[in-house]
Amino acid sequence: MDMFVIRGGTPLAGTVTINGAKNAALPIMAAALASSGPSVLQDVPDLVDVRTLCKLLSELGMNVNRDASGDLRLEVVDDRPHAADYELVRTMRASVCVLGPLLARRGRACISLPGGCNIGDRPIDLHLKGLAALGADIRVERGYVIAEAGRLRGARIYLGGPFGSTVTGTCNIMVAAALARGKTTIESAACEPEVVDLGNYLNNMGARISGLGTPFLEIDGVEELTGTTHRIVPDRIEAATLMIAAAVTNGDVELKNVRSQHLTAVLEKLSEIGVKIANVGENRLRITTSGELRAADCIALPYPGIPTDVQAQLMSLLACTPGISVITDKVFPDRFMHAAELARMGAMIRREGPSAIINGAGQLSGAAVMASDLRASAALVIAGLSAQGDSAIRRIYHLDRGYERLERKLRQLGAHIERVEDRADTFPHSLRLDQPQTAAELTGPHWSHPIANTTSQKRSA
Ligand code: EPZ
Repeated sequence: MDMFVIRGGTPLAGTVTINGAKNAALPIMAAALASSGPSVLQDVPDLVDVRTLCKLLSELGMNVNRDASGDLRLEVVDDRPHAADYELVRTMRASVCVLGPLLARRGRACISLPGGCNIGDRPIDLHLKGLAALGADIRVERGYVIAEAGRLRGARIYLGGPFGSTVTGTCNIMVAAALARGKTTIESAACEPEVVDLGNYLNNMGARISGLGTPFLEIDGVEELTGTTHRIVPDRIEAATLMIAAAVTNGDVELKNVRSQHLTAVLEKLSEIGVKIANVGENRLRITTSGELRAADCIALPYPGIPTDVQAQLMSLLACTPGISVITDKVFPDRFMHAAELARMGAMIRREGPSAIINGAGQLSGAAVMASDLRASAALVIAGLSAQGDSAIRRIYHLDRGYERLERKLRQLGAHIERVEDRADTFPHSLRLDQPQTAAELTGPHWSHPIANTTSQKRSA
């Protein structure tokens, strides 16, 4: 198992390019199951979740491979398989995205119910309600969803839930309706850019979907979807993560391949906190700070609000920002596992129901911390970059699910971060209780001596 070892205090500087979005790539790859011809997907990030889905799609009769240019080629070669087993689905909730395409194209699907996870309950009742409305016969048995259908038929579907719409639920229903007989309307559809990207992919394959990006979708079913070539939309969450890393280190960072129109709420909030964001060219943003950051309140909401997937990262920034800030997550009210780990670094955070009250007293101090989920891992990396001294962030397999070698990008920006095997002899000397941090270790942003004897164990990042 790997961990990150970080020495904080270095302002990030330089330029990095944002990858294609994980949360667009996954439903789009799954939607290829509904196509009768091959697709080529460009800018699909090389992530653990993408590899997990490639494995699942192969088991479902699809040839999936990356060509020399890095493009992902997908083609259905056997449309008889219809079951996604527990072992794969339990590691990745997004596997549920194969439900709609399998039903639409093969008339049946057997998918393990995704378990819960560290960010809260992850029900799929809205997915099942929508598919049933399209004419599917849905049963839940022994932890599996068993769905069967003849030709699906268009329906009027309301996808609003207690926490707003459902992103992957909208994806599932959109794909299923694209091949249904007749017209489907989806009210309270998710408006996230990743859902729009899936809709554009489907329309390029011959689907007839209108209203993309609004809560009201109209889908005229067609007989067939053919293959196409599609470039995945840039990852707004990765972009926001790197912006916050730049801000928290008082850095000067330029991001390429950023759609600022997908980040309006985040850019507004960062400006309110005192981060300077400048458009410096097509799809390029420059992030700097004027030094003085200000506390702010943040509410995570469905798009176009502040994404819940950026909430943890903002908490790390506000934990180092003088003043009292309040973060509320209206999408996943329990998504605060990162707060306790940030507290180990000196953050002062108090939970109050769906909110966290942060007293950003200033400097965090390095510590050994444990990642609990994908975006919490990113928050801990950000905190480690800003903290005084060394940090060890364990269980970064969570991070690898959604970021492609994040440490490589951060190192490119000057960060002192290394990926090492999580072993006693790679654990930073400065974090060992029996070896209190020396003044040099506490003050030195210089990489003056190995923080762990990582030379031998250092993983090639
Ligand atoms: C997608 O998850 C993203 N994952 C999540 O990103 C993201 O946090 C989430 O949308 C919200 O934006 C992918 O796209 C692969 P939801 P999803 O269905 O679709 C409730 C990351 O870090 N709900 O939009 O599973 C649900 O409990 C991941 O990249 C129901 O009640 O989320 C939640 O409170 C984490 N019934 C809210 O709706 C349902 O049938 C939003 O869930 C479905 C959801």
